Amino acid sequence: MQPQRIVSGMRPTGPLHLGHYFGVLVNWIQLQKEYECFFFVADWHALTSEYAAPARIRGFVPELVLDWVAAGLDPAKCTIFLQSQIKEHAELQLLFSMFTPLGWLERNPTYKEVKGELEGSKDLSTHGFLGYPVLMASDILIYRPQLVPVGQDQLPHLELTREIARRFNFLYGPLFPEPQAKLTETQKLPGLDGRKMSKSYGNAVYLSESLEQVTPKVMSMLTDTNRMRKKDPGNPDHCNLFPYHLLITEEQERAEITAGCTQSSLGCVDCKKMLLQSLERFLAPIQERRKKLEARPDQIWEILSAGNRRAREQAVKTLALARGKLNLEYPELARSRGK
Ligand code: TRP
Repeated sequence: MQPQRIVSGMRPTGPLHLGHYFGVLVNWIQLQKEYECFFFVADWHALTSEYAAPARIRGFVPELVLDWVAAGLDPAKCTIFLQSQIKEHAELQLLFSMFTPLGWLERNPTYKEVKGELEGSKDLSTHGFLGYPVLMASDILIYRPQLVPVGQDQLPHLELTREIARRFNFLYGPLFPEPQAKLTETQKLPGLDGRKMSKSYGNAVYLSESLEQVTPKVMSMLTDTNRMRKKDPGNPDHCNLFPYHLLITEEQERAEITAGCTQSSLGCVDCKKMLLQSLERFLAPIQERRKKLEARPDQIWEILSAGNRRAREQAVKTLALARGKLNLEYPELARSRGK
């Protein structure tokens, strides 16, 4: 039996942090073992909001692939490619845009939220930004997958993808599946200050960060604010550190931490030192792989080039079928070529 197919992408807007890792990337790394996976760098999508700084986006493209492969994506198991090199996505997006009602796009909660957040810093009253989910629908549907592993914030976009698939199938005949979201099962990792981990909040730990860079960040984290002195008992549920211990500290050590914190025998500084050790254990193999890859930068481009070829092969097939359904085939032209 053919394994089910999976498609997902990330925008190259900066280095990956632990929030990305535990939110989406662990999921991808697991899925590549069982599914036929297509993972891509969404450089066109990055331009929808960063259109004024295209050179920055270009720089983040190989960095993102480095982060992925260092973290455990294996180009022998999955297809890793670059969106802008598969021009078929853009043509399918054009076709979808003919029948996608503006109301669907304007009502999209993710659209409203992101636009609101960036208001003031960027003018996002653009065709491209409003059309973000139409391009995303095309990224996905062109590979006709069953599943799309994304974070919670992407669910409205995925709903629109299914609506576009349904509308296409209704207007022109069946072609597209209605892919479902595959959410990550691991617990979410908040930022160092307890808010959502984000580059713009300055509360992130990056996958490529050295222990020297991480140490001051961890040492200044807020713990249970009701625990003023070491002799006061603490509550791990009210501490910014504990979600990290939950994800990266071994169970036995974590039990010791919980006991030591609630019985006031372990101080917060020691708990932070234990977290730093866990972070070091977690980051070391990732950074080791990164160093090897960085020593041969061509490798990243070879991975992308091979992935592009495999992705294009599939995209071309779907696009030909979609063009056929829309009566965009002109065999007469092929016959009269050269006459
Ligand atoms: N919108 C996604 C994000 O910001 C990135 C993305 C673009 C994507 N196209 C996609 C994700 C297709 C999944 C499938 O994270």
